[in-house]
Amino acid sequence: MKKPLRHSAERVKRIEQKIAKAPSFFSRHLNQLGLLSPDWNAHRDYVSYNHFFRKPLRIFFGSQSGSSWWQHVRGKGFVASTILEVLSMIPCSPKKPLEILEDGPGKGRFIQTLRRKLIENRVPVKTTAVAIHHIPELERLKESGELDALVVPKSASLGLPGAEFFVPDRPLDAIFSMFGSIHYTLPELRKDHLLKYAHALKPGGIMFAGFDTFTDVKKEPFPDIERSFAKQGFKAKFFNLHFGGRVFPDTILLVQRLPHSRP
Ligand SMILES: C[S@@+](CC[C@H](N)C(=O)[O-])C[C@H]1O[C@@H](n2cnc3c(N)ncnc32)[C@H](O)[C@@H]1O
Repeated sequence: MKKPLRHSAERVKRIEQKIAKAPSFFSRHLNQLGLLSPDWNAHRDYVSYNHFFRKPLRIFFGSQSGSSWWQHVRGKGFVASTILEVLSMIPCSPKKPLEILEDGPGKGRFIQTLRRKLIENRVPVKTTAVAIHHIPELERLKESGELDALVVPKSASLGLPGAEFFVPDRPLDAIFSMFGSIHYTLPELRKDHLLKYAHALKPGGIMFAGFDTFTDVKKEPFPDIERSFAKQGFKAKFFNLHFGGRVFPDTILLVQRLPHSRP
């Protein structure tokens, strides 16, 4: 049988079928994702994102962190390791659906599959994609009702596209930026760009980001950035995905605005 082209939807589908047949193998061997991840560019879905966030989420929200705010709020036994579990804990109602934004959604498979999962779990949700590529695919998702809002940001003065110029216009419960503009922006702008997004979080809201290591990390190491978040009422933690092989992204950042802090 002819091998489908790299990056094609068919190739991604085959990889996902392989993973579905042996999920524990792949979760134990995240380095496999490194070999496979270039194929997911613009195609990755809820399951693929979870491979990257599972371990960081367990540490951030689970028993290993020892001081998780949610353990405090929800009781000592609370351990979360999937995106769905974490989002399901955020209070919401049909009148106040979860406000979720994805920056750099590719063709929108993740935001589409996340939305479906939340609705299946009776979590009311409103999704927004901030995108500069794959606009026709994202518009189709919107027309079919699988995406609630699409923003294609442009700088009024420069006429350039990009999330660097986008400022969220309402408080958000969750922000995803997986190899999105936080990765692609100029290194000098990354920290401000991160903070800008984080400031849109509601109390208890969470940002899930994935990117390749900051090139300016030597100038400002991760612990310093974590501390500047802490001073501003956030819990933030970087995770390095060292699994031997090349992983895209190699760095995960989780940020939560403290549930009792004021925006
Ligand atoms: C490699 S794809 C990642 C897609 C998806 N998040 C994933 O992980 O499979 C990069 C995404 O970032 C978006 N992107 C890159 N630079 C951007 C910018 N400056 N502003 C907004 N989006 C940007 C691209 O349009 C694309 O959707």
